[in-house]
Amino acid sequence: MKAVVYERYGPPDVLSVQDVPLPEPDAGQIRVKIAATSLNLSDWECLLGRPAYARVGGLRKPARNILGSDVAGVVDKVGEGVTRFKPGDEICADNLNLKGGFAEYAVMPESAAAFKPPELSFSEAATLPQSGAIAWQGTRLAAPGKRVLINGAGGGTGSFAIQLAKRAGAHVTGVDNASKLNHMRSIGADEVIDYQRDDYTKAGQYDLILDLVAHRSVFAYRRALKRGGTYRCVGGTTRSLLRILTAGGIVGLATGRSIGVLVVKEGPKHFEPMAELCAAGEITIHVDSTYDLAHTADALTRVGEGRAQGKVVVEI
Ligand SMILES: NC(=O)c1ccc[n+]([C@@H]2O[C@H](COP(=O)([O-])OP(=O)(O)OC[C@H]3O[C@@H](n4cnc5c(N)ncnc54)[C@H](OP(=O)(O)O)[C@@H]3O)[C@@H](O)[C@H]2O)c1
Repeated sequence: MKAVVYERYGPPDVLSVQDVPLPEPDAGQIRVKIAATSLNLSDWECLLGRPAYARVGGLRKPARNILGSDVAGVVDKVGEGVTRFKPGDEICADNLNLKGGFAEYAVMPESAAAFKPPELSFSEAATLPQSGAIAWQGTRLAAPGKRVLINGAGGGTGSFAIQLAKRAGAHVTGVDNASKLNHMRSIGADEVIDYQRDDYTKAGQYDLILDLVAHRSVFAYRRALKRGGTYRCVGGTTRSLLRILTAGGIVGLATGRSIGVLVVKEGPKHFEPMAELCAAGEITIHVDSTYDLAHTADALTRVGEGRAQGKVVVEI
């Protein structure tokens, strides 16, 4: 089968399309003929091997040589003991541990997969697993009367998070670069901030901050939170994440706020609610662009350079 392979961390030109053996499903696994794989910033980080946490499991070279974890496709073969799926079933899955989505076939534990809602195309369903789960969990505290700020809101996850927070009745501020301000407004943000011009931590106070790209100090986050407010991040610079993990809890506790990292729970239970809302037309999926397998490097570059407004998808 064809796959986009890399053997060392580096820029997109370390990727090449190769013929590799068809993977066989082990016990408890399914093999899926991939129709579409959506990209996350984590794919870009695992390609570069930066920030440092992207090398977990593979310090010197990638632990998995085919990237791509948010997939949708058709079950092609099942391993011993698989009970939920059979060949021909249409699924979408978060295959974060095994990856392999930039290929014609991938194997994954059956527990990583959910049935694809028939209302969604494969490309749409592939956008949901990680971004949907993060947005769903990260906006849980959004409610009428609450002021919610989403930092990095113009990208794949942020586009879902803005809509969920608005749907919950919150007043939503989206922060991203100038080229994404209109996009954030168009999907419901009440206010937008260009992070290259203004520092949102000096612009007001919020009940909930969901930070997709943390890079400031815990004191800045404390300043931006109302008393009783909550700050959660899911990604950012290693320096910022370490500070939040070490000092965030203490600074928060001492000042009547909660500052920490959102430990994202993976799996169908956490993205199926989003899939249902999208299938019902209550949340809109914004596909920024689609690429074919041979142009996976271009797709990754688009995400890595921060040009995407919504999700980028490789259709296989
Ligand atoms: N399991 C997990 O915990 C998990 C799984 C997947 C992803 N993640 C994390 O979730 C985060 C979001 O992923 P994603 O796929 O939604 O990424 P994405 O589509 O690239 O969106 C991130 C957005 O943040 C913007 N941005 C960059 N620097 C910023 C800054 N200093 N201030 C405000 N905005 C900034 C980017 O725009 P520009 O760069 O163009 O300015 C981009 O629009 C990432 O940090 C990723 O590592 C975590």
